[in-house]
Amino acid sequence: MQTDVKKQIETILADHKITTDSTSIKNKRNQKPTPIDREIKLDPSRTIMSKTDARGVIEYANDYFMEICGYEEYELMGQPHSIIRHPDMPKVIFSELWKRLNKGENIHAFVKNLAKDGRYYWVLTNFETKYDESGAIISHYARRKAAPGNAIYQIEKLYKTLKSIEDTQGIEVAERYFSGLLEEKNMNYNEFILEILGINEKAVVSYFIDSTQTSKPTKKRSVFGRLFG
Ligand SMILES: Cc1cc2nc3c(=O)[nH]c(=O)nc-3n(C[C@H](O)[C@H](O)[C@H](O)COP(=O)(O)O)c2cc1C
Repeated sequence: MQTDVKKQIETILADHKITTDSTSIKNKRNQKPTPIDREIKLDPSRTIMSKTDARGVIEYANDYFMEICGYEEYELMGQPHSIIRHPDMPKVIFSELWKRLNKGENIHAFVKNLAKDGRYYWVLTNFETKYDESGAIISHYARRKAAPGNAIYQIEKLYKTLKSIEDTQGIEVAERYFSGLLEEKNMNYNEFILEILGINEKAVVSYFIDSTQTSKPTKKRSVFGRLFG
């Protein structure tokens, strides 16, 4: 009798293509969305915020983070931040990001992220690192704001070039190309980003501080905010 019920349940599950196998459930969870060429426009007055451990495992995300990427808390917590990594992003940029974060340095990077439904959104980042008493990193806080359209246009061109070098020649060749480009401009990474944004470091930082106080829309428009017209 018990065997009959088990068989019946198995038949129903198979008919509805439902699996109870934990490996395939896990695989499905790890499956990345297929990117589609549709942008999610961000509200320039709001901040997307997340907190991770020292290795980039998500421990907290604010409401706007989830509203934009389309994942729920239970899908994000405990996951690596690469859950929203877009395949158009060059490895070189994340390598630069981690080099700086591991030294406790901030980095303003332009990042194209992948939402759960396959759409993309561009952000500009601002990081803060927290340490324990022994000086070991315990958390990274990432705040992200919408990036102005003209900056994205320039960055997209650069990322396409970096990605094509990486895909054909490998990351080291792409890294050398990127340092060559900065050397030619006689700039470090941060100066290069500020040049693209057309504002100074103080203006970028104050823009992020403004929005850290409140993640709700504010009437006050910062220098950076005015870039959005
Ligand atoms: C606090 C924090 C926030 C991050 N935010 C993002 C993000 O928004 N998008 C992203 O693709 N990677 C983000 N990363 C970097 C990822 O950890 C990861 O290095 C990146 O997605 C590349 O994935 P991969 O290292 O598996 O290639 C973040 C890392 C940290 C520590």
